[in-house]
Parts: sequence; C-alpha cells; structure tokens
Amino acid sequence: MSSSKTLILAALMRTSWISGQALADTAGVSRTAIWKHIHALRQEGYEIQASSGRGYRLEHAPDRLSAEGVQAGLKTSILGKDIIFRSQIDSTQNLAKSLGEQGAPEGTVVLAETQNKGRGRRGRIWTAIPHGVAMSIILRPDLPPDQAPHFPLLAGAAIGQAITKSCDLQAGLKWPNDILIHGLKVVGILAELDAEMDRINAIYLGIGLNVNALPDEIPADLSTLATSLCIQSGSKVNRLHLVQTVLQELELAYQTYRMHGFAPIRKSWKEQNITLGRTVRIVSGHNIRTGTAVDLDPEGALILRSDDNQETIVTAGEVQLCPEVKTRPSLD
Ligand code: BTN
Repeated sequence: MSSSKTLILAALMRTSWISGQALADTAGVSRTAIWKHIHALRQEGYEIQASSGRGYRLEHAPDRLSAEGVQAGLKTSILGKDIIFRSQIDSTQNLAKSLGEQGAPEGTVVLAETQNKGRGRRGRIWTAIPHGVAMSIILRPDLPPDQAPHFPLLAGAAIGQAITKSCDLQAGLKWPNDILIHGLKVVGILAELDAEMDRINAIYLGIGLNVNALPDEIPADLSTLATSLCIQSGSKVNRLHLVQTVLQELELAYQTYRMHGFAPIRKSWKEQNITLGRTVRIVSGHNIRTGTAVDLDPEGALILRSDDNQETIVTAGEVQLCPEVKTRPSLD
C-alpha cells in the first residue's frame, strides 16, 4: 500500500465523515488521486460510503492483517514504526532475527497471517491455528544480558492487559509467560536473546495469538490445550485492533520498565497471574520438581516451596498447574 493510501486509511479510521478535500490535504495528493485510492481500498474489501455533501466514511474494514492496517491509527512511538507483513512465512521469528542481524531498528515488527515452521519455547513446534496472529518484535534495550529474563514476564503482563482491553476477557498468566483463559492457552511467547558478555544486542519477542478460530478449527491434538479469544469471548475479534493494542501495551510496559525498573512489571504480572498459590510441577529436562508456587522474587524467578517447607528459586522450566483439590466442607 502506498504511503498516501495509508494516510487516507488512517484518516478514515480516525473520523466519521471526512470530505474529499480534507483527505487530499491530509495525504498531500489531488482529489482525483483520492478517488483512485478510495476505489483501490474498496477493491481490497474496505466498505467506504460516499456522499456528495459529507465526503467519505469507512463503514467496515476487512479482517485482514496488513502493515498499513496496523499502522493506521497506531498510538506508539517506537514499536511498529516499521512493519514487514507476510501472508505466509516459515517463522516470523526467523525473519526478525535475520533483519535484526542486518541492523533493523528497535521496534521493527514482522507480522504474518500464518506460519508453516512456527517455533515454540524449549525447541517445540508452534502449530498455526487458523485466523490467528503471528508476530515478532525487535527490541534493543541498553542493558546487560542478566536483565533479559525480565522480558518474557514484561511481554506476558502487557499482552494480558491488551487482551483485557480489546476483548474484555481476564487473561491468566502462567509463569513465566503463557497466557491462558479457563486453563487453555490463547497466547504463546518466545523471547530470544542476542547478546555479548556485557550487553544485549537484541531481544526477539515472538508472539502467537489464537484469535478467531472456531471450536472445530482447533486441531484435534490441541483441543484440550488451546482455545481462541473468539471462542472465549463469544464474538469475533478485530485482529488489527488487537495487534495495535498489543503494541501499545508492550510499548507502555517497556517505557515503564526503562524508567522504573522491574518492580511495576512484577506487580502487573502478579495481578494477572494464575500460578501463585497453586500446586505446580516444574519440568526442566529430566528434572521434575513439585511444590507450591509461593511468589515471584524481585527479579521474576519463581519461588517454589516443597512439602518439607524448603524454598527454591526457579529460573527456568515448564510449569504444569496441578488440578486444584476441592475439599468437601466439613459437616461438623
Ligand atoms: C510457546 O508457547 O512455546 C511460544 C510460542 C511462540 C510462537 C510465536 S508465533 C510468532 C513467533 N514466530 C515463531 O516462530 N514463534 C513465535
């Protein structure tokens, strides 16, 4: 999409009716060019009403991801200034890394409708669920690498907020950064680090969101593990708006972290978590530990209390939430 078409789309998204002349002034093009861009947008599925007295009004935007659709009305100053969109890709994380290694700036986003080699945490495959969102964001914090473990938690807390704001759903954070609703996963986050001994070169934040899949579109092998925002909220989610909200909340959390450190991020994570107070199994390779997840330490590690009351600090591993034991009320 040309930059004038992006400006026209952004103006249509911002207002109700807008005159052809106002659009022409906004985009710096002629009235004839406006008419051509409106025609092209309609061909792409945008429903735009025209009235001789009032101008143009956007009635309906298609549920199609695009760089321009996200950028139109995006309220960020760093994240999403550059967006590379692919309808299909092997992994947004792979492209983000290769762009990052070539010097792509902080905030660059790689966005895709679907991936055929999506990567998950701990070397697992991330299966593409239809009508979702796959995105990777390049961050370049000026920090030593021992601060990198804050970022998965920061991302989880920010995306949890974005889900609450855009879908009116309460997201539950499972340490360190899975997002679940009613015990089923809606978001996976993969944070990968490129660093030297004393400084971070880049953090690649990969985010997979299960958005508009219907129950019969969840692959059978995932049906007891995954869900979508649409299934949980009972209505279709506007993916462009969701991506914008995710970028805005991430930027806000990133700025808060840079100004005030990890404490406010830890607070937000704890407010949304479904891990603390639960009996958990922590799997790390062949090592399995069981106990109660009691708290996050000031750096975001999980404090686990075993049955013999010993506390250990867990910095890595896969948390499995054990079923909550329902005790029968006593009759006496
Ligand atoms: C997990 O829960 O295991 C993390 C899954 C992360 C998936 C996302 S989708 C966008 C980005 N590209 C990838 O290949 N993986 C991440």
